[in-house]
Amino acid sequence: MKVVTIGKTEFSSPIFLASGTAGYGYELSEFVDFRKIGAVVTKGVSKNPREGNPPPRVGEFVVYGVAVGLVNTIGLQNPGAKNFKKILSEIKKLPTKVVVNVFGESEKEYGEVINILEDSEQKADAYELNLSCPNTKKGGMEFGVNPKAVSKIVNLSRKKTELPIIVKFSPFSELLKELVKISMQEGADAFTLTNTIPSAIRDYKVGFLKGGLSGPVLKPIALRCVLDVKEVFPDAKIIACGGISTREDIKDFIDAGACAVQIGTASFLNPKISEILHDQTVDSV
Ligand SMILES: Cc1cc2nc3c(=O)[nH]c(=O)nc-3n(C[C@H](O)[C@H](O)[C@H](O)COP(=O)(O)O)c2cc1C
Repeated sequence: MKVVTIGKTEFSSPIFLASGTAGYGYELSEFVDFRKIGAVVTKGVSKNPREGNPPPRVGEFVVYGVAVGLVNTIGLQNPGAKNFKKILSEIKKLPTKVVVNVFGESEKEYGEVINILEDSEQKADAYELNLSCPNTKKGGMEFGVNPKAVSKIVNLSRKKTELPIIVKFSPFSELLKELVKISMQEGADAFTLTNTIPSAIRDYKVGFLKGGLSGPVLKPIALRCVLDVKEVFPDAKIIACGGISTREDIKDFIDAGACAVQIGTASFLNPKISEILHDQTVDSV
């Protein structure tokens, strides 16, 4: 299995756990041997605590009796950057790297969150900027489709840390390639492609649920994003994310040019899946 280098940080495996789908990592430690996982990407951390959205927060998208997607509207519940420092020390006890997913309600808040976390006893190994959350009124996707906002956020974040900066984009922008270019100019080291897409499902008991769609149905969209960006920027480091649940999925994304993959919704179905996928692909990726 290949070591993946992003910025100056080495990740021992190209299989990462996606933000928001693995808690803070240690919740999965009875199921997953973390030595086989390149990194845990934490749930998004904002400057101030956020309560998130009221329930219901998740629902399945079912086609012909088979769940092909998950719609979630968690609303980035988290304890805020200062309180998160204690949690970070706990996550750092796992034998894997920790990528902290950062979220800001304003452009400058991303850098502020990084600033607070840089002052921790136990530091992160990299930051992933969430410029793509569809479930919030302010921030996230609103910034991630706007070239000026992307430029400012990456620029301000870059000034606060020497750790790798990974930018996570929505597939929902016509400007994806331009946004990647701008981010690279401002010092981003890698890109996570991609996040959930705005969607809605209907449950006859609870009504309509609006949220971000993840799971197998997202794979072709994420694959297209990876191919499109690699076509223009062959050297860009891309961490693929979207509907990955089998070894074939991993092969498809690696062959498309990704250097690593993130396992998301698949962990809800089988919390051991990331380790299983590691064992199945250890000799091939
Ligand atoms: C319940 C849930 C919570 C999520 N929370 C976050 C988050 O806090 N920050 C973020 O960048 N992405 C978040 N995501 C998006 C995932 O990290 C991932 O990009 C997306 O689910 C697509 O991958 P998948 O199809 O393998 O799940 C969340 C996804 C789910 C399902």
